[in-house]
Amino acid sequence: MTSPELTTHKPTTHKPTTLLDRLGALRGLLTISDADYHAFMGSYGELFVDSPENPLDDYESGIPPKGYDQGSSEELQALYKVIHLLCTLGSVEKMYMPPTIDPDKSVLQNQILFERMLAEDLQLQAGRKVLDLGCGCGAIAEHIADLTGATPFGINLDASQIDKAHRNPNLPAANFAVGDFNKPLPFDDDSFDAVYAIQPLTYLQNHVFTFAEVLRILKPGGRFVAALDAYDRDNEVHRRLIQDTRELTVFGGFWHFRYWEDAYRDAGFELISSVGRSAVEMIKKEVALFSRYEAVFKALAKVRIIPKKTDALLQRMNKNSRSYIEAEEAELLTLNWHCVGQKPG
Ligand SMILES: C[S@@+](CC[C@H](N)C(=O)[O-])C[C@H]1O[C@@H](n2cnc3c(N)ncnc32)[C@H](O)[C@@H]1O
Repeated sequence: MTSPELTTHKPTTHKPTTLLDRLGALRGLLTISDADYHAFMGSYGELFVDSPENPLDDYESGIPPKGYDQGSSEELQALYKVIHLLCTLGSVEKMYMPPTIDPDKSVLQNQILFERMLAEDLQLQAGRKVLDLGCGCGAIAEHIADLTGATPFGINLDASQIDKAHRNPNLPAANFAVGDFNKPLPFDDDSFDAVYAIQPLTYLQNHVFTFAEVLRILKPGGRFVAALDAYDRDNEVHRRLIQDTRELTVFGGFWHFRYWEDAYRDAGFELISSVGRSAVEMIKKEVALFSRYEAVFKALAKVRIIPKKTDALLQRMNKNSRSYIEAEEAELLTLNWHCVGQKPG
Protein backbone atom coordinates (compact mmCIF):
# COMPACT_ATOMS: atom_id res chain seq x y z
CA MET A 1 0.00 0.00 0.00
CA THR A 2 1.41 3.41 -0.89
CA SER A 3 1.49 6.14 1.75
CA PRO A 4 2.59 9.31 0.03
CA GLU A 5 3.28 12.61 1.71
CA LEU A 6 0.02 14.49 1.89
CA THR A 7 -0.37 18.20 1.50
CA THR A 8 -1.96 19.69 4.60
CA HIS A 9 -4.20 22.66 4.20
CA LYS A 10 -5.10 25.61 6.29
CA PRO A 11 -7.78 24.94 8.95
CA THR A 12 -11.36 25.47 7.89
CA THR A 13 -14.45 26.48 9.79
CA HIS A 14 -16.72 24.14 7.81
CA LYS A 15 -18.88 22.30 10.39
CA PRO A 16 -21.71 20.39 8.77
CA THR A 17 -23.06 18.46 11.74
CA THR A 18 -24.77 20.71 14.27
CA LEU A 19 -26.28 19.89 17.65
CA LEU A 20 -29.68 20.23 15.98
CA ASP A 21 -28.69 17.60 13.39
CA ARG A 22 -27.70 15.23 16.20
CA LEU A 23 -30.90 15.89 18.15
CA GLY A 24 -32.93 15.33 14.97
CA ALA A 25 -31.18 12.01 14.40
CA LEU A 26 -31.75 10.97 18.03
CA ARG A 27 -35.44 11.85 17.75
CA GLY A 28 -35.66 9.72 14.58
CA LEU A 29 -34.08 6.77 16.41
CA LEU A 30 -36.28 7.15 19.49
CA THR A 31 -39.48 7.28 17.45
CA ILE A 32 -38.59 4.73 14.79
CA SER A 33 -41.60 2.78 13.45
CA ASP A 34 -41.79 -0.98 13.90
CA ALA A 35 -41.71 -1.36 10.12
CA ASP A 36 -38.46 0.62 9.75
CA TYR A 37 -36.92 -1.16 12.76
CA HIS A 38 -37.65 -4.64 11.40
CA ALA A 39 -36.62 -3.68 7.86
CA PHE A 40 -33.24 -2.45 9.19
CA MET A 41 -32.60 -5.49 11.42
CA GLY A 42 -33.69 -7.88 8.66
CA SER A 43 -31.58 -6.17 6.00
CA TYR A 44 -28.29 -7.59 7.37
CA GLY A 45 -29.40 -11.15 6.55
CA GLU A 46 -30.12 -10.11 2.97
CA LEU A 47 -27.27 -7.73 2.26
CA PHE A 48 -24.17 -9.37 3.74
CA VAL A 49 -24.53 -12.99 2.71
CA ASP A 50 -22.31 -14.36 -0.06
CA SER A 51 -21.21 -10.83 -0.87
CA PRO A 52 -18.67 -10.58 -3.68
CA GLU A 53 -14.96 -10.44 -2.93
CA ASN A 54 -12.26 -10.44 -5.56
CA PRO A 55 -8.74 -10.28 -4.10
CA LEU A 56 -5.45 -10.01 -5.98
CA ASP A 57 -5.29 -13.78 -6.65
CA ASP A 58 -8.54 -13.55 -8.62
CA TYR A 59 -7.22 -10.58 -10.53
CA GLU A 60 -4.01 -12.36 -11.44
CA SER A 61 -6.00 -15.42 -12.56
CA GLY A 62 -8.02 -13.23 -14.91
CA ILE A 63 -11.30 -13.67 -13.00
CA PRO A 64 -13.65 -10.77 -13.76
CA PRO A 65 -15.06 -8.82 -10.78
CA LYS A 66 -18.39 -10.13 -9.54
CA GLY A 67 -20.85 -7.29 -9.00
CA TYR A 68 -22.90 -6.69 -5.86
CA ASP A 69 -26.37 -7.91 -6.82
CA GLN A 70 -28.20 -6.14 -3.97
CA GLY A 71 -26.74 -2.73 -4.96
CA SER A 72 -30.12 -1.24 -5.89
CA SER A 73 -32.30 -3.20 -3.48
CA GLU A 74 -35.08 -2.18 -1.09
CA GLU A 75 -33.06 -3.75 1.73
CA LEU A 76 -30.17 -1.38 1.02
CA GLN A 77 -32.56 1.59 1.16
CA ALA A 78 -34.04 0.33 4.45
CA LEU A 79 -30.55 -0.04 5.91
CA TYR A 80 -29.48 3.46 4.93
CA LYS A 81 -32.66 5.08 6.19
CA VAL A 82 -31.61 4.07 9.73
CA ILE A 83 -27.83 3.93 9.50
CA HIS A 84 -27.71 7.52 8.42
CA LEU A 85 -29.39 8.53 11.69
CA LEU A 86 -26.93 6.42 13.71
CA CYS A 87 -23.94 7.89 11.85
CA THR A 88 -25.21 11.44 12.45
CA LEU A 89 -25.05 10.79 16.20
CA GLY A 90 -21.31 10.22 15.78
CA SER A 91 -18.86 12.18 13.60
CA VAL A 92 -19.88 10.57 10.34
CA GLU A 93 -23.02 12.27 9.13
CA LYS A 94 -20.92 12.26 5.97
CA MET A 95 -20.82 8.48 5.96
CA TYR A 96 -17.21 7.78 5.19
CA MET A 97 -14.06 7.19 7.19
CA PRO A 98 -11.42 9.63 5.93
CA PRO A 99 -7.77 8.67 5.59
CA THR A 100 -5.61 9.78 8.52
CA ILE A 101 -4.18 13.08 7.33
CA ASP A 102 -3.59 14.64 10.74
CA PRO A 103 -3.82 12.05 13.56
CA ASP A 104 -4.12 14.78 16.19
CA LYS A 105 -7.31 16.10 14.62
CA SER A 106 -10.85 14.73 14.85
CA VAL A 107 -12.56 12.51 12.30
CA LEU A 108 -14.60 15.46 11.12
CA GLN A 109 -11.50 17.65 10.72
CA ASN A 110 -9.82 14.88 8.72
CA GLN A 111 -12.90 14.65 6.50
CA ILE A 112 -12.55 18.38 5.91
CA LEU A 113 -8.85 18.02 5.03
CA PHE A 114 -9.62 15.11 2.72
CA GLU A 115 -12.36 17.09 0.97
CA ARG A 116 -9.91 19.91 0.33
CA MET A 117 -7.63 17.41 -1.41
CA LEU A 118 -10.63 16.12 -3.34
CA ALA A 119 -11.48 19.67 -4.44
CA GLU A 120 -7.91 20.06 -5.78
CA ASP A 121 -8.13 16.75 -7.66
CA LEU A 122 -11.42 17.79 -9.24
CA GLN A 123 -9.85 20.99 -10.68
CA LEU A 124 -13.10 22.93 -10.43
CA GLN A 125 -13.75 26.64 -10.79
CA ALA A 126 -16.71 28.90 -10.11
CA GLY A 127 -19.65 28.22 -12.38
CA ARG A 128 -18.63 24.64 -13.25
CA LYS A 129 -20.96 21.68 -12.63
CA VAL A 130 -20.03 18.81 -10.31
CA LEU A 131 -21.98 15.62 -9.56
CA ASP A 132 -21.75 13.60 -6.31
CA LEU A 133 -22.68 9.93 -6.86
CA GLY A 134 -24.23 8.37 -3.72
CA CYS A 135 -24.29 11.87 -2.25
CA GLY A 136 -25.42 11.09 1.30
CA CYS A 137 -27.37 14.10 2.59
CA GLY A 138 -25.35 16.48 0.40
CA ALA A 139 -22.90 17.62 3.10
CA ILE A 140 -19.79 16.79 1.03
CA ALA A 141 -21.31 18.53 -2.00
CA GLU A 142 -22.01 21.61 0.13
CA HIS A 143 -18.35 21.74 1.17
CA ILE A 144 -16.99 21.17 -2.37
CA ALA A 145 -19.26 23.93 -3.70
CA ASP A 146 -18.08 26.20 -0.90
CA LEU A 147 -14.40 25.51 -1.69
CA THR A 148 -14.62 25.80 -5.48
CA GLY A 149 -17.66 27.92 -6.36
CA ALA A 150 -18.94 25.07 -8.56
CA THR A 151 -22.65 24.19 -8.76
CA PRO A 152 -23.32 20.89 -6.96
CA PHE A 153 -25.61 18.06 -8.06
CA GLY A 154 -26.21 14.73 -6.31
CA ILE A 155 -28.05 11.44 -6.58
CA ASN A 156 -28.76 8.90 -3.83
CA LEU A 157 -30.73 5.65 -3.72
CA ASP A 158 -32.16 6.54 -0.29
CA ALA A 159 -35.00 9.12 -0.35
CA SER A 160 -34.60 10.03 3.34
CA GLN A 161 -31.09 11.43 2.75
CA ILE A 162 -32.28 13.36 -0.31
CA ASP A 163 -35.12 14.82 1.81
CA LYS A 164 -32.45 16.06 4.21
CA ALA A 165 -30.46 17.60 1.32
CA HIS A 166 -33.64 19.39 0.24
CA ARG A 167 -33.97 20.92 3.71
CA ASN A 168 -30.42 22.32 3.54
CA PRO A 169 -30.70 26.02 2.54
CA ASN A 170 -27.09 25.99 1.27
CA LEU A 171 -27.86 23.45 -1.48
CA PRO A 172 -29.83 23.97 -4.71
CA ALA A 173 -32.66 21.53 -3.92
CA ALA A 174 -33.60 20.95 -7.56
CA ASN A 175 -30.13 19.48 -8.23
CA PHE A 176 -30.47 16.68 -5.63
CA ALA A 177 -32.61 13.69 -6.52
CA VAL A 178 -33.24 10.06 -5.78
CA GLY A 179 -31.22 8.11 -8.33
CA ASP A 180 -29.34 4.86 -8.81
CA PHE A 181 -25.80 4.65 -10.20
CA ASN A 182 -26.43 1.05 -11.27
CA LYS A 183 -28.88 2.39 -13.87
CA PRO A 184 -28.25 4.75 -16.80
CA LEU A 185 -27.48 8.14 -15.21
CA PRO A 186 -30.30 10.67 -15.78
CA PHE A 187 -28.06 13.33 -17.38
CA ASP A 188 -27.13 14.35 -20.91
CA ASP A 189 -23.82 13.52 -22.55
CA ASP A 190 -20.96 15.95 -21.78
CA SER A 191 -22.91 17.76 -19.06
CA PHE A 192 -20.52 17.80 -16.05
CA ASP A 193 -17.06 19.22 -15.45
CA ALA A 194 -16.38 16.72 -12.69
CA VAL A 195 -17.94 13.73 -10.95
CA TYR A 196 -16.89 12.18 -7.64
CA ALA A 197 -17.98 9.29 -5.46
CA ILE A 198 -16.85 9.02 -1.83
CA GLN A 199 -17.13 5.36 -0.83
CA PRO A 200 -20.51 4.37 -2.29
CA LEU A 201 -19.15 2.27 -5.16
CA THR A 202 -19.04 -0.85 -3.02
CA TYR A 203 -22.64 -1.26 -4.22
CA LEU A 204 -21.74 -1.48 -7.91
CA GLN A 205 -23.47 -4.19 -9.88
CA ASN A 206 -21.21 -3.73 -12.89
CA HIS A 207 -18.05 -1.63 -12.60
CA VAL A 208 -17.51 -0.83 -16.25
CA PHE A 209 -21.18 -0.03 -16.90
CA THR A 210 -21.23 2.70 -14.22
CA PHE A 211 -17.77 4.04 -15.08
CA ALA A 212 -18.80 4.26 -18.77
CA GLU A 213 -21.93 6.18 -17.72
CA VAL A 214 -19.74 8.62 -15.79
CA LEU A 215 -17.49 9.01 -18.84
CA ARG A 216 -20.55 9.71 -21.01
CA ILE A 217 -21.88 12.55 -18.81
CA LEU A 218 -18.46 14.17 -18.32
CA LYS A 219 -17.19 16.85 -20.67
CA PRO A 220 -13.90 16.02 -22.41
CA GLY A 221 -11.12 16.74 -19.91
CA GLY A 222 -13.57 16.28 -17.01
CA ARG A 223 -12.40 14.36 -13.96
CA PHE A 224 -13.83 11.43 -12.02
CA VAL A 225 -12.47 10.99 -8.51
CA ALA A 226 -13.50 7.93 -6.53
CA ALA A 227 -12.67 7.01 -2.94
CA LEU A 228 -13.12 3.27 -2.84
CA ASP A 229 -12.73 0.24 -0.72
CA ALA A 230 -9.92 -2.07 -1.80
CA TYR A 231 -9.32 -5.65 -0.81
CA ASP A 232 -5.79 -7.01 -0.63
CA ARG A 233 -5.59 -10.67 0.41
CA ASP A 234 -7.35 -13.52 2.20
CA ASN A 235 -7.04 -16.53 4.45
CA GLU A 236 -9.47 -18.00 7.00
CA VAL A 237 -8.85 -15.44 9.76
CA HIS A 238 -8.79 -12.68 7.22
CA ARG A 239 -12.11 -13.81 5.79
CA ARG A 240 -13.74 -13.54 9.23
CA LEU A 241 -12.28 -10.08 9.77
CA ILE A 242 -13.44 -9.00 6.36
CA GLN A 243 -16.95 -10.34 6.93
CA ASP A 244 -17.17 -8.58 10.31
CA THR A 245 -15.86 -5.41 8.74
CA ARG A 246 -18.40 -5.71 5.95
CA GLU A 247 -21.22 -5.83 8.48
CA LEU A 248 -19.87 -2.92 10.48
CA THR A 249 -19.19 -0.68 7.50
CA VAL A 250 -22.25 -2.02 5.65
CA PHE A 251 -20.17 -2.39 2.52
CA GLY A 252 -21.24 -4.61 -0.39
CA GLY A 253 -18.43 -5.87 -2.61
CA PHE A 254 -14.72 -5.83 -1.83
CA TRP A 255 -12.51 -5.79 -4.91
CA HIS A 256 -8.74 -5.50 -5.14
CA PHE A 257 -7.73 -2.03 -6.27
CA ARG A 258 -6.40 -3.40 -9.57
CA TYR A 259 -10.05 -4.04 -10.53
CA TRP A 260 -10.86 -0.39 -9.89
CA GLU A 261 -7.93 0.75 -12.00
CA ASP A 262 -9.08 -1.52 -14.84
CA ALA A 263 -12.63 -0.21 -14.59
CA TYR A 264 -11.34 3.31 -15.21
CA ARG A 265 -9.24 2.24 -18.19
CA ASP A 266 -11.81 -0.17 -19.66
CA ALA A 267 -14.47 2.56 -19.54
CA GLY A 268 -12.15 4.90 -21.50
CA PHE A 269 -10.59 7.09 -18.78
CA GLU A 270 -6.97 8.05 -18.54
CA LEU A 271 -5.99 6.97 -15.00
CA ILE A 272 -4.11 9.86 -13.41
CA SER A 273 -3.46 8.48 -9.94
CA SER A 274 -4.35 5.52 -7.73
CA VAL A 275 -3.32 5.61 -4.08
CA GLY A 276 -4.30 3.78 -0.86
CA ARG A 277 -4.21 5.50 2.51
CA SER A 278 -4.78 4.10 5.97
CA ALA A 279 -7.73 5.28 8.02
CA VAL A 280 -6.96 3.22 11.08
CA GLU A 281 -6.36 6.12 13.50
CA MET A 282 -9.69 7.62 12.46
CA ILE A 283 -11.48 4.30 12.85
CA LYS A 284 -10.12 3.97 16.40
CA LYS A 285 -11.47 7.40 17.31
CA GLU A 286 -14.94 6.65 15.92
CA VAL A 287 -15.10 3.18 17.45
CA ALA A 288 -14.21 4.70 20.86
CA LEU A 289 -16.99 7.26 20.47
CA PHE A 290 -19.60 4.64 19.53
CA SER A 291 -18.48 2.37 22.39
CA ARG A 292 -19.32 5.21 24.77
CA TYR A 293 -22.72 5.63 23.07
CA GLU A 294 -23.27 1.88 23.37
CA ALA A 295 -22.69 1.95 27.14
CA VAL A 296 -25.02 4.94 27.61
CA PHE A 297 -27.78 3.50 25.40
CA LYS A 298 -27.59 0.13 27.17
CA ALA A 299 -27.94 1.78 30.59
CA LEU A 300 -30.81 4.02 29.47
CA ALA A 301 -32.67 1.11 27.84
CA LYS A 302 -32.28 -0.97 31.01
CA VAL A 303 -34.14 1.63 33.07
CA ARG A 304 -36.56 2.17 30.17
CA ILE A 305 -35.63 5.80 29.53
CA ILE A 306 -35.15 4.94 25.85
CA PRO A 307 -36.88 2.15 23.90
CA LYS A 308 -35.10 -1.21 23.72
CA LYS A 309 -35.43 -0.93 19.93
CA THR A 310 -33.20 2.16 19.83
CA ASP A 311 -30.53 0.40 21.88
CA ALA A 312 -30.76 -2.68 19.64
CA LEU A 313 -30.19 -0.56 16.50
CA LEU A 314 -26.96 0.85 17.89
CA GLN A 315 -25.71 -2.54 19.12
CA ARG A 316 -26.41 -4.04 15.69
CA MET A 317 -24.49 -1.35 13.87
CA ASN A 318 -21.56 -1.34 16.29
CA LYS A 319 -21.08 -5.13 16.42
CA ASN A 320 -17.59 -6.34 15.47
CA SER A 321 -16.01 -2.91 15.54
CA ARG A 322 -12.66 -4.39 16.73
CA SER A 323 -12.46 -6.41 13.51
CA TYR A 324 -12.67 -3.24 11.48
CA ILE A 325 -9.56 -1.92 13.26
CA GLU A 326 -7.74 -5.27 12.94
CA ALA A 327 -8.52 -5.57 9.23
CA GLU A 328 -7.12 -2.13 8.45
CA GLU A 329 -4.12 -2.60 10.73
CA ALA A 330 -3.27 -5.87 8.95
CA GLU A 331 -3.70 -4.04 5.61
CA LEU A 332 -6.26 -6.61 4.47
CA LEU A 333 -8.17 -3.78 2.99
CA THR A 334 -8.34 -0.06 2.93
CA LEU A 335 -11.59 1.80 2.74
CA ASN A 336 -9.65 4.68 1.27
CA TRP A 337 -8.36 3.77 -2.12
CA HIS A 338 -8.33 7.02 -4.05
CA CYS A 339 -8.36 7.13 -7.85
CA VAL A 340 -8.41 10.08 -10.22
CA GLY A 341 -9.37 9.59 -13.85
CA GLN A 342 -9.74 12.04 -16.72
CA LYS A 343 -11.90 11.87 -19.83
CA PRO A 344 -9.60 12.19 -22.84
CA GLY A 345 -10.01 15.05 -25.26
C1 LIG B 1 -20.99 4.59 2.49
S1 LIG B 1 -22.10 5.87 2.08
C2 LIG B 1 -20.97 7.00 1.34
C3 LIG B 1 -20.96 8.37 1.95
C4 LIG B 1 -21.60 9.42 1.11
N1 LIG B 1 -20.82 9.74 -0.06
C5 LIG B 1 -21.94 10.65 1.91
O1 LIG B 1 -21.87 11.73 1.34
O2 LIG B 1 -22.34 10.55 3.08
C6 LIG B 1 -22.94 5.23 0.65
C7 LIG B 1 -24.00 6.19 0.09
O3 LIG B 1 -24.41 5.69 -1.20
C8 LIG B 1 -25.83 5.62 -1.25
N2 LIG B 1 -26.14 4.53 -2.22
C9 LIG B 1 -26.09 3.19 -2.01
N3 LIG B 1 -26.39 2.52 -3.15
C10 LIG B 1 -26.62 3.45 -4.11
C11 LIG B 1 -26.98 3.38 -5.48
N4 LIG B 1 -27.15 2.20 -6.11
N5 LIG B 1 -27.16 4.54 -6.17
C12 LIG B 1 -27.00 5.75 -5.54
N6 LIG B 1 -26.68 5.88 -4.23
C13 LIG B 1 -26.47 4.75 -3.51
C14 LIG B 1 -26.24 5.37 0.19
O4 LIG B 1 -27.59 5.73 0.43
C15 LIG B 1 -25.26 6.25 0.94
O5 LIG B 1 -25.67 7.59 1.01
